Amino acid sequence: MKNRIATGFDFLSPFYDLLARLIIGKDIVNSQLHFLKSFRECNRLLILGGGSGWILEPLCKACPDIQIDYIDLSPKMINAAKRISGKNVRINFILGTENDIPDRLYDGVITNFYLDMFEKQTIEKVIEKIKGSIAVGMLADFTLLSENPLTVAPERIKDIKVEEVIIGGKSVYKAT
Ligand SMILES: C[S@@+](CC[C@H](N)C(=O)[O-])C[C@H]1O[C@@H](n2cnc3c(N)ncnc32)[C@H](O)[C@@H]1O
Repeated sequence: MKNRIATGFDFLSPFYDLLARLIIGKDIVNSQLHFLKSFRECNRLLILGGGSGWILEPLCKACPDIQIDYIDLSPKMINAAKRISGKNVRINFILGTENDIPDRLYDGVITNFYLDMFEKQTIEKVIEKIKGSIAVGMLADFTLLSENPLTVAPERIKDIKVEEVIIGGKSVYKAT
């Protein structure tokens, strides 16, 4: 039986990007583009919950030699990402989850709007899985929010709190 979350994202796939941009504004794009330059030195990158794949074109432009493993749970999101990337042989598409991360080390991992989908009880397990795939010496930048801005009611977006900010692998802010 198909996973409920996969079915939800399959349904959303034709208009997910538009909806996200309408709800959050252009910052959702700018914040993701901003970090692409950090991957210039990377050889092998893991993208988890990549969605429609809009980021692949600017990413491959910024990092022309990078090899990418691109994982998403939703068949329709994966198909959309394949369409965007055309015949780019440097991208290996995997229909699956964090449980399907290939057994290799990455020097970069992108988890845009992915970690915030997990409940508090499961997030640590997911992070442990991801950490196991990161090459020694690589550091993470990310923000943990109290709720997912894409799934809460629009009038509650303003109440979302930043719980923790990690920069260069170090916690630089933790809500008390
Ligand atoms: C909120 S969207 C973010 C998409 C994209 N990263 C972006 O920022 O535009 C989350 C994506 O993660 C996928 N997803 C949900 N749970 C997943 C899981 N456990 N493993 C892999 N992908 C998952 C969904 O199908 C969806 O494409």
